[in-house]
Amino acid sequence: MHRLESAHDGQISQDGVVSVNGFIHERVCLIVTGGIAAYKAPAVVRLLREAGAEVRVVMTRGAQAFIQPLTFQAVSGQPVHTDLLDPAAEAAMGHIELARWATRILVAPASADFLARLAAGMADDLAATVCLASDAPLFVAPAMNRLMWAHAATRHNVSVLESRGVTMLGPAEGAQACGETGPGRMQEPEEIVQALLGKAPDQPLAGRRVLLTAGPTQESIDPVRVITNRSSGKMGYAVAKAARAAGAEVVLVSGPTALAPPAGVETVAVQSAADMHAAVMARAGACDLFIATAAVADYTIADPAAHKVKKQDGELTLVLKPTTDILAAVAALPAPPFTVGFAAETRDLLTYARAKLTRKKLDMVAANLVGVPGSGFDADENALHVVWAGGDQVLERADKELLARRLVALIAERLRAKTPA
Ligand code: PMT
Repeated sequence: MHRLESAHDGQISQDGVVSVNGFIHERVCLIVTGGIAAYKAPAVVRLLREAGAEVRVVMTRGAQAFIQPLTFQAVSGQPVHTDLLDPAAEAAMGHIELARWATRILVAPASADFLARLAAGMADDLAATVCLASDAPLFVAPAMNRLMWAHAATRHNVSVLESRGVTMLGPAEGAQACGETGPGRMQEPEEIVQALLGKAPDQPLAGRRVLLTAGPTQESIDPVRVITNRSSGKMGYAVAKAARAAGAEVVLVSGPTALAPPAGVETVAVQSAADMHAAVMARAGACDLFIATAAVADYTIADPAAHKVKKQDGELTLVLKPTTDILAAVAALPAPPFTVGFAAETRDLLTYARAKLTRKKLDMVAANLVGVPGSGFDADENALHVVWAGGDQVLERADKELLARRLVALIAERLRAKTPA
């Protein structure tokens, strides 16, 4: 039923995978195990189907504690398999049938427990049995607490699985549902599907040099005190990573943050708005694209004290003077790069964003509402309304890493329209 009869219909590869009109016709058995990342698995199903794959979903008991089988039935258009010893299920498409049907098996998310059961060759539920009964390539997207991922038992299980030819997809690093930060997040659905279907990642910024600012600045009052803001740098670092993943050569000028420099990105650490201005202007002439995500101080101390200011009776007045607008300075260069500013607003988002676009002569503005709980400054999620001359697009609230990839894809599209590579 999955093999095509003639060359007109499509092409059949050696392993029986059919390609029709450029779509990869894989039969993917998606195994969902118990973990909070199970909420991302329906997006995996949707992307697989959009790529032309057929999908059957198997859920462990743990997975059903996080998400309903009905959700997967709706997105896959197929009944969901949950029980090994269900007579009705075995009569229709039993575990052996399902294992034979699949041209790829994907476990996403894969819990620490499931990795252990896979490594041990267990067959104590439908999910583990399908893996054991199939010779289809097995892909595993782990998702767990960072210490569980780092534990010697998990490390051993992963090396056993890799030695058997299992492909590990991730995990990614970042903030975890348990409140900790580190490796253990499930990769994003787009990355998983790209890796599974063996498609080369899209690199729309290949050959482009990107300069970014990120994080807060610190303006010294005296040698021990500063004026700063609540920017964590997460948005800017995520944009830097996304630009790198899109193939760009990336330089990140960062104010003080608690984040690790992104891999493959040249990171220049600065403190004040003046430092950031100097670091950017020294590099702006050599870049094709400038993205200003930093929350740069608009004012700095007019005359910082050389020694610690002593406590005194009564009020203390600090005199502030404006800083240079780095973004406007880059856009005003004789041959400016494609220039993207951010706008942090608490109201009238679109009006202020459009005003910034025109006043600073920018190519694009990514505007975010700040002061919204769980979004914007020092949060893991954000939402953007991106504007440019003659257009705009809303990028719905999402994890900053995912949002950054969407933003970079949109910037790359506009950049290509203005200056073809
Ligand atoms: O770092 P996070 O915790 O992840 O939070 C992300 C963020 C909310 C800081 C980010 O999404 C954001 O909105 N960054 C811009 C913050 C800001 O300062 O916005 P603004 O509207 O005040 O400034 C407009 C633009 O001018 C920004 O691109 C800013 O980088 C730039 N600017 C501002 C002043 C200045 N002296 N130089 C500049 O380049």
